[in-house]
Amino acid sequence: MISESLFVDFAEMLISTRRSILPKRLFEPGPNDEQIELILSAAAAAPDHGLIRPWRFIICTPSSRESLADAFAKSLVARDSSATPEQISDAKNKAYRAPLLLLGVINVRGLGVEIPISERYISAGCAIQNILLMAHSMGFGASPTSGKSMYMDPVRNLFKLSDEEDPLCFISIGTPDREKPGQPRMITKDFVSYI
Ligand SMILES: Cc1cc2nc3c(=O)[nH]c(=O)nc-3n(C[C@H](O)[C@H](O)[C@H](O)COP(=O)(O)O)c2cc1C
Repeated sequence: MISESLFVDFAEMLISTRRSILPKRLFEPGPNDEQIELILSAAAAAPDHGLIRPWRFIICTPSSRESLADAFAKSLVARDSSATPEQISDAKNKAYRAPLLLLGVINVRGLGVEIPISERYISAGCAIQNILLMAHSMGFGASPTSGKSMYMDPVRNLFKLSDEEDPLCFISIGTPDREKPGQPRMITKDFVSYI
């Protein structure tokens, strides 16, 4: 049994040292199958009003990266028909970053109406933070990222999102190529007040 103070020290260290490491800085080795299972199971501990599990995660397998690159390129061209070959190539390259790439998805229009959409997003955010913290605890770098393409049909179709679902963000996990210096965090008086 971990002593209470050790638990607090551990939680404080884990939470305060987590930093977002962008996908272009994440390389092999990524988590192995056992580690992926542990990372993803952390999502299941997120608070979830009504236990409706309004979110899910889709793993981009290595063989899917080419299709993702294609979807990024098609999305770019759909919103900017004058995109240069270099811009298209940059868009494609994003699909190959980070050994483990997930798409978080939220069900906003289904599952019954009792649980407000805002609560579904809160649950999803907690699930994502659990994933980021678990990956960090194992020494991996991780980050959530988005981008205009994520919301466009080529990406939606590739991930087979239903009409009830929207993408939340990509989550990239891997080994960082360098240490990222810490940055000052907000202090509680910046975001806490008293009634
Ligand atoms: C849902 C979500 C999507 C994000 N997408 C991007 C992104 O596409 N590009 C980016 O540079 N930062 C993005 N960020 C912000 C970073 O991941 C990061 O959280 C922020 O820079 C703060 O850094 P920290 O996590 O190290 O405190 C996103 C954050 C969230 C919550």
